[in-house]
Amino acid sequence: MEKTVEKVINEQINAEFWSAYLYLSMSMHFANAGYAGIANWFAVQFKEEQDHATIFMNYVNSRGGKVELAPIAAVDTSWESPLAAFEATLAHEKKVTAMINNIYAVADKAADIATKSMLTWFVDEQVEEEETARGFIDALRMIGDNGYGLYMFDKELAARAYKTPSPLAAAE
Ligand code: FEO
Repeated sequence: MEKTVEKVINEQINAEFWSAYLYLSMSMHFANAGYAGIANWFAVQFKEEQDHATIFMNYVNSRGGKVELAPIAAVDTSWESPLAAFEATLAHEKKVTAMINNIYAVADKAADIATKSMLTWFVDEQVEEEETARGFIDALRMIGDNGYGLYMFDKELAARAYKTPSPLAAAE
């Protein structure tokens, strides 16, 4: 694969691991703050982000490229409320979406059709991730400081279960 494409995918692998680390930090923060459901939701998100990195790493290997793992930068360790955490999540996912779109543009320039094809799963995934974060932000704005509302919100997020994403499930 072209070096230009390999380079941006390696940067994306680092961003996915950074995302995983961010969501793990959120999970730990909310576990400590007594929100077991929100902690569960971010723990699942932590696994999904590692899956995203794995999908990219497998892809680079399958194309004969070289995965180069870089240091993972520090993440925040506390958030003032669930709303603040989901606002940070949405802002972060928008950055990830822009990075995916940039890889697509680099692949397009290199006439790398296989990479463009691989990226379509991520394009769809990003739409879903942003939509989910926006939905939680809307709900939490409605709830405000209502204790019962927060209790129910936390209970809802406790139900999230991890599922292997389709690009990895296919390889199992
Ligand atoms: Fe790997 Fe949250 O996108």
